[in-house]
Amino acid sequence: MRQWLIATILGGAGAVAGCMGTEDITSTSAEERGPRFITIGADAIATAQDALAARDPGATLTPIAVKNGIALLEYDAQDFVALSELMHERHHRCSGFIRHGSFDDGQDALAAPERPVAALTYSIDNPLTVNVLMSELRSSAILSMIEDLSAFKNRFYRSTTGAQASDFIATRWRALAGNRTDVTVEQVTHPDFTQKSVIMTIRGTTLPNEIVVLGAHMDSIAAGGSSSTAPGADDDASGIATLTEVVHAMMVKGYKPQRTVQIMGYAAEEVGLVGSQLIVDDYKAKGKNVVGVMQLDMTNFHNSDRDIWLMTDFTNPGQNTFVESLIDRYTGATHGRDSCGYGCSDHASWHEAGIPASMPFETRFDDFNPEIHTPGDTLEVSDNNTDHAVKFARLGAAFAGELAKGTVDLSKELFREDFETAGWTNTGLWHRATSSRCGPPGFSSPTHAMYFGSDTTCNFDTGARVSGTMTSPTITGITAASTLRFRFYRDVQKTEISSNDVVKVSVIENGNRTVIFSRTSKTASQPRWLMSDPVSLAAFAGKSIQLRFEFDSITQNNNQFTGWMIDDVVVTR
Ligand code: BES
Ligand code: ZN
Repeated sequence: MRQWLIATILGGAGAVAGCMGTEDITSTSAEERGPRFITIGADAIATAQDALAARDPGATLTPIAVKNGIALLEYDAQDFVALSELMHERHHRCSGFIRHGSFDDGQDALAAPERPVAALTYSIDNPLTVNVLMSELRSSAILSMIEDLSAFKNRFYRSTTGAQASDFIATRWRALAGNRTDVTVEQVTHPDFTQKSVIMTIRGTTLPNEIVVLGAHMDSIAAGGSSSTAPGADDDASGIATLTEVVHAMMVKGYKPQRTVQIMGYAAEEVGLVGSQLIVDDYKAKGKNVVGVMQLDMTNFHNSDRDIWLMTDFTNPGQNTFVESLIDRYTGATHGRDSCGYGCSDHASWHEAGIPASMPFETRFDDFNPEIHTPGDTLEVSDNNTDHAVKFARLGAAFAGELAKGTVDLSKELFREDFETAGWTNTGLWHRATSSRCGPPGFSSPTHAMYFGSDTTCNFDTGARVSGTMTSPTITGITAASTLRFRFYRDVQKTEISSNDVVKVSVIENGNRTVIFSRTSKTASQPRWLMSDPVSLAAFAGKSIQLRFEFDSITQNNNQFTGWMIDDVVVTR
């Protein structure tokens, strides 16, 4: 094995706040001395020099090699503690360097290819599948999965509860797979510890030997190791829960990818990417062809000015550009680029094996959740909601749907309207529009949405009170399990007292009108495409219904807001 966890040498007085604990990890000790090989972000060479000079003022440090923003250094083990502390202080990195077992291993780490071995063309042309998968993602389910995973005292790779967490995840994923014969869930045993990685495989229909991996790590860590309290709600229950919800959508919608999709819950990430490294070694030995990897490690803490941050180090630039296009096309999220400065999660195991990997992250590196690796890494730090993680779930669904392609089973849908052609009855400012002009980024499928507002001004200000309805054709076949979901972009005035800019969805049945969804100016709007929660239509089982979307500005003032857009109205059986 190539990597050991450097921060783990820190004990007692040497511990770095927010970084991980020590017990049970045997890689090295505070007394260790002698020359070793490490890789470190090239931006931190001066820091390494300074940490060395603290002990030996005359010493100079010359990198053996620098490549792709990473430096290979020979460094004395007795200076590791000082380096970890200085890295944390100056670069906010936990340890921030990787130790290698030999010079050759260090060289290998630098030599990781930048490009995919087999050229892969990235395209975005499977919106029906992606939109259907996204329509099944539930924030509430991500939330409860994070709660369930955080309820383990810890998910440490050597603890009993850490092993139980693996069983728990495997059981959940097996339940989701149901009786599909093309889906398997296996637990991978690792030689030196009890926690097993979990791998769900959805066999590809036409290209089964090409594998697309979506991964997250199941283990958590805090000072005290096996006896610690380490809820790891963000790091990385959030990633496992996000993936679990993507799996839910895939299974409910009968997703059949062309390429094989594997969902991986890695064991023992926190102690040096150990679980993923063992899997990568095994895949290399067996010649398995992994064509793309997405790592979701920390998805729910929102603390930066943009939503999703693509780590540029230990990742593939071509695939990262593709992922950015997916974010733009499908998620309604904003994005930026940053770097960890070291192999900060399991994507690095794949990257070093030459496999294209991406790591979309929840914040800028410098803004990362200060509670990770402590008993304080709870859902409360993310205000007890999973709004942020949902964006990563959308991205995960898009990554699978566009990289592994494939289809969904639409037979469970009773009614779907993407407004690509006319068919509804509209009054007032309601009309079919190319959504990308006033409601960027054209997230609705594929090119049209309904819009209450003006295409020329992108608002609903006509100088007068404006209102209007759009009404669907008749829908039959409603059952007690039927739900309505739709995408909407709502941007209106915010008021505290009176209700303006009222939006409503109602069901019209036998001359009666029942409101099933409404918002007013008292609920803040967001200029973003969002998915509604599912609204039950159980009350209309067996009836013939029409759906009506209604907008009323109430007043003639303060109408210089975008208004309301609707797309992808779906009623399930
Ligand atoms: N989730 C973290 C990685 C992370 C933390 C990324 C903060 C970005 C910001 C991961 O679980 C972890 O702690 N990784 C280790 C390194 C690994 C080689 C053991 C770390 O960051 O020290
Ligand atoms: Zn993590």
